[in-house]
Amino acid sequence: MTDNIFKNFDLKNKTAVLTGSAGRLGNEFAHTLCQAGANVILVDIDSKENKKLELSLKKKFDSKIISCNLDISNQNSVKTLKKQILAKFGQLDILINNAFFNPSINQTQKMKKFETFPLEVWNKVIGVNLTGVFVCSQELGSIMAKQKGGVIVNISSIYGMVGADQRIYGESGLNSQPSYAATKGAIVNLTRYLAAYWNGKNVRVNTLTLGGVLDKSYMKNSFIKKYSEKTILGRMANKNEYNGALLFLVSDASSYMTGTNLVIDGGWTAW
Ligand SMILES: NC(=O)c1ccc[n+]([C@@H]2O[C@H](COP(=O)([O-])OP(=O)(O)OC[C@H]3O[C@@H](n4cnc5c(N)ncnc54)[C@H](O)[C@@H]3O)[C@@H](O)[C@H]2O)c1
Repeated sequence: MTDNIFKNFDLKNKTAVLTGSAGRLGNEFAHTLCQAGANVILVDIDSKENKKLELSLKKKFDSKIISCNLDISNQNSVKTLKKQILAKFGQLDILINNAFFNPSINQTQKMKKFETFPLEVWNKVIGVNLTGVFVCSQELGSIMAKQKGGVIVNISSIYGMVGADQRIYGESGLNSQPSYAATKGAIVNLTRYLAAYWNGKNVRVNTLTLGGVLDKSYMKNSFIKKYSEKTILGRMANKNEYNGALLFLVSDASSYMTGTNLVIDGGWTAW
């Protein structure tokens, strides 16, 4: 019997790297890590938003919080980050590969169709969403393998598991893209590879697969309705609904779990 189950979720004295920290979910995950007591290294290419997040977290939490602005697909930058982490913290316990490049923001007519999808956009997405995960896992996971302990969580999407139903997008301008499907699917199996590779090193590696998050600032009601109808729960996720699963995966609460995929999608992939 566990004396105090809540202790298993405690991240005090743990150090975590969170990529894509300045984004919608990054912000949520950063707060969750800090609330659980972890020291957090916020990694994002968006220096302005990342600094803002660092300052606001420092006002609320006592743990060590630093922001590092870099491109996760640049191996030299991640090598420098590794040196900084070792110098400042001497250890790394948690890596959350959450960053992703979203070309939908500037979606062109060409990007809406697979037949005309630009190769340069495809390559850029592979570079961040997949190569970035490879580089961060290689450089930072190696700290964990050496110290014989650590946890990596790779953030994927339902579109890494099933094809995007193009019928729900229409002219919404949010059409899910082939590069997203390919990279998010790939990291589900990269997760299994890394978990298996580090057997005996006590480095646990899991995927957290998410469904779509409601954001009325850019989503039309017609899209929200069509998306919601494809979930069993009949709605999109609120941005805070993944925090519990994230904390579970990065903490000792999931100590017997590695090489697998935790799916939280309102039932999207269940029917
Ligand atoms: N929001 C959703 O509906 C949803 C659904 C399923 C899965 N996800 C997954 O959740 C994760 C976070 O999504 P989000 O909605 O918070 O995205 P977001 O676009 O709000 O945030 C992504 C962050 O990554 C950063 N980034 C981009 N390229 C980078 C690079 N080269 N180096 C470092 N940082 C870089 C961006 O600056 C941004 O802050 C992603 O992996 C995404 O695939 C999101």
